[in-house]
Amino acid sequence: AFIVTDNCIKCKYTDCVEVCPVDCFYEGPNFLVIDPDECIDCALCEPECPAEAIFSEDELPADQVQFVEINADLAGKWPNITEKKDPLPEAEEWDGKPNKLQYLEK
Ligand code: SF4
Ligand code: F3S
Repeated sequence: AFIVTDNCIKCKYTDCVEVCPVDCFYEGPNFLVIDPDECIDCALCEPECPAEAIFSEDELPADQVQFVEINADLAGKWPNITEKKDPLPEAEEWDGKPNKLQYLEK
């Protein structure tokens, strides 16, 4: 599956959801996740993310491995999102800041 990682937090650009052929993105207050059971590994979402926050599970940076479980867990709790919306107001400011997991709202 593809995994949404740390840099999405507090940005949530949502460009990714528009291209997913199986609509497997789920939305929380300041982060999105991909349902790993629904993702068909088409790779279409990866280049769409302005924050470069989406990775194939096979190419996940070592410090992002914890997001495998976070995506699987939260996909079962959050509502589906299929249409792009405005990014979070401070998205540009937060884009690229490291270790945003501490700010994840569930
Ligand atoms: Fe959707 Fe394809 Fe991205 Fe998986 S890889 S989340 S199926 S767009
Ligand atoms: Fe997040 Fe990137 Fe999608 S910032 S909402 S994974 S476009």
